[in-house]
Amino acid sequence: MIKKTKVGILCGGQSEEHQISLLSAKNIIEAIDKKRFEISVFGIDRSGGWTALKSENFLLHPDQPDQIHFITQTNEKSHCTVFSEKQKAHSLNQALPLLADIDVVIPALHGPNGEDGSIQGFLKTLGLPYVGCEVLGSAMCMDKDITKKILLNASLPVCKYLLARKNSSVPSYQEAQNLLGPTLFIKPCNMGSSVGVSKASNETDYKKALDLAFKHDRKVIIEEAIEGRELEIAILGNSNPKATVVGEVIPTNEFYSYEAKYLDSEGAQLAIPAEVPSEIAAQMSDMAIKAFLELECQGLARCDFFLTKSNELLINEVNTFPGFTKISQYPKLWEASGVSYQNLISELIELAIKKTT
Ligand SMILES: Nc1ncnc2c1ncn2[C@@H]1O[C@H](COP(=O)(O)OP(=O)(O)O)[C@@H](O)[C@H]1O
Ligand SMILES: [Mg+2]
Repeated sequence: MIKKTKVGILCGGQSEEHQISLLSAKNIIEAIDKKRFEISVFGIDRSGGWTALKSENFLLHPDQPDQIHFITQTNEKSHCTVFSEKQKAHSLNQALPLLADIDVVIPALHGPNGEDGSIQGFLKTLGLPYVGCEVLGSAMCMDKDITKKILLNASLPVCKYLLARKNSSVPSYQEAQNLLGPTLFIKPCNMGSSVGVSKASNETDYKKALDLAFKHDRKVIIEEAIEGRELEIAILGNSNPKATVVGEVIPTNEFYSYEAKYLDSEGAQLAIPAEVPSEIAAQMSDMAIKAFLELECQGLARCDFFLTKSNELLINEVNTFPGFTKISQYPKLWEASGVSYQNLISELIELAIKKTT
């Protein structure tokens, strides 16, 4: 009998995308090829405490994205999974010997502390191979300003933008409007899932939007509002990555909000493959692969674009651990390109092991 590879799945995490991560982990565990892989699950609570979970039954309210919680031995009846500082250190101490026994980790975590290089640095320090981008690629893609700087340097197109730093340089609405036009998108630089993102077309809304974005980050990005379509493409590979067909997100409201992404199934429609001319699809594929390599990505990433009314492509962002439920765009794009959800997970694990060899 072939020895199974021991896979550790990390889920939850300290970001606002905690619950999405639990859903991603649940789907991965259900689909992973159990003939090849033996699974251990580690939950990270919102304060950073670690706990080993039972892979067969680790979630409360697994089918309700806004209620979902992981179950620790001590909280089987309660919803609380937040540890004190003392419990936190103790919890990591308990998890470390179990982690040391793992062959490869899937950090199924989104957003700050999960997708931004910090957990990647921790795993690297432990000498554990893991799925996805390394520290540098993760950190660069997490920061919307740094991403744009790298892309601009590689002559890849991005929208016009300005930066605001808390308590120092914050452009006035007039300054922003002069450069970027009357309608603006204001976002925390290091966040995801549309958390803290607002659209503003007057000074009052602009100030409110800045206040909200600054609640999440010290650095805020102010962008021109792009009128056009939201297209995306999924990338898989290390030094020789492949791209999928093109997908489209069609938000039913003002923009693709947190609610539309995860809570409201009516909030957006996905079209895979998107109806785009073949030259646009080919251009997107080339640009996304170039962006992936320039941003030092490995394993996986989803590259999101705008297609303007004049058929100009702009890269909006690169997500290094995009939503990974079986109905998320990343797996759906691969499915439409001939890679099943189960095979996608196997391939990502193989790529993680290859990174280290
Ligand atoms: N400059 C922009 N112009 C038009 N719409 C935008 C712009 N920036 C963001 N949006 C809308 O807001 C959503 C969230 O913004 P995004 O940059 O993708 O942040 P996140 O990392 O939170 O997903 C996008 O999917 C899109 O609908
Ligand atoms: Mg986005």
